[in-house]
Amino acid sequence: MAKLCVNIDHVATVRQVRRADRPDPIAAAVLAETAGAASITCHLREDRRHIQDSDVERLRFTLRTHLNLEMAATEEMLGIAERIRPDMVMFVPEKREEVTTEGGLDVAGNLEAVRAATQRMLAAGLRVSHFVDPDLRQIEAVLACGAPVLELHTGAYANAQGTEARLAELRKLLEAARVASEAGLQVNAGHGLTLQNVLPVAAIPRVCELHIGHSIVSHAVMVGFERATREMIDAIMRADALAVRHTPEEILILFSA
Ligand code: PXP
Repeated sequence: MAKLCVNIDHVATVRQVRRADRPDPIAAAVLAETAGAASITCHLREDRRHIQDSDVERLRFTLRTHLNLEMAATEEMLGIAERIRPDMVMFVPEKREEVTTEGGLDVAGNLEAVRAATQRMLAAGLRVSHFVDPDLRQIEAVLACGAPVLELHTGAYANAQGTEARLAELRKLLEAARVASEAGLQVNAGHGLTLQNVLPVAAIPRVCELHIGHSIVSHAVMVGFERATREMIDAIMRADALAVRHTPEEILILFSA
């Protein structure tokens, strides 16, 4: 069964709107862990719009599970990762004007720079993941960089309108997951996943971790962080049970009414 990794950025978003000291993303992370999350992710952005440096430091010594640090491969962030030593560095593209991470990292188009950043993190003893679109060229580039993990961007799947369009995006994810895992990469997936669309993705063979943030934080506003996390884990367990008899495509069609 895929493990759930909870992204707590948007707890910090609510705090930063008022420049207040709550809600505390570290408290939310502890509740997510209590509910069964396998790891916690935060994205330290260049503009510090949500997570602050002190949050990453507090997470580092508070978490009982693993800390994933999502970041751009800049000199500043590489230095922070070397100092804080997260369990996994997740390289993502970053634009100041974007509302959220818009596309996967263009590893193929920036091979030398991404390879150098990846090798620097590996040399520091840190695990490295690349967030990429389900595109075979990008998978080859991740391998060329020596990263052991990739995360498939599920945003196009999540945003697809209608069953046919969503099936087409799901098939790209299936093929990318197969190719990447056969090449020896750990395959994770995330972005835009919700209780409503997670089942087919959670049923993709060999997907190890699902990285989910916004929908859990949104639901937590209504029902609390532990329950929101638990409901997502329950959905992933349900997908696992369905996958015994059904393909991910069948699961998508079953639940697309
Ligand atoms: N994975 C990566 C690499 C991301 O950048 C994000 C968004 O920060 C997520 C997963 C989680 O996406 P969402 O908040 O839409 O669940």
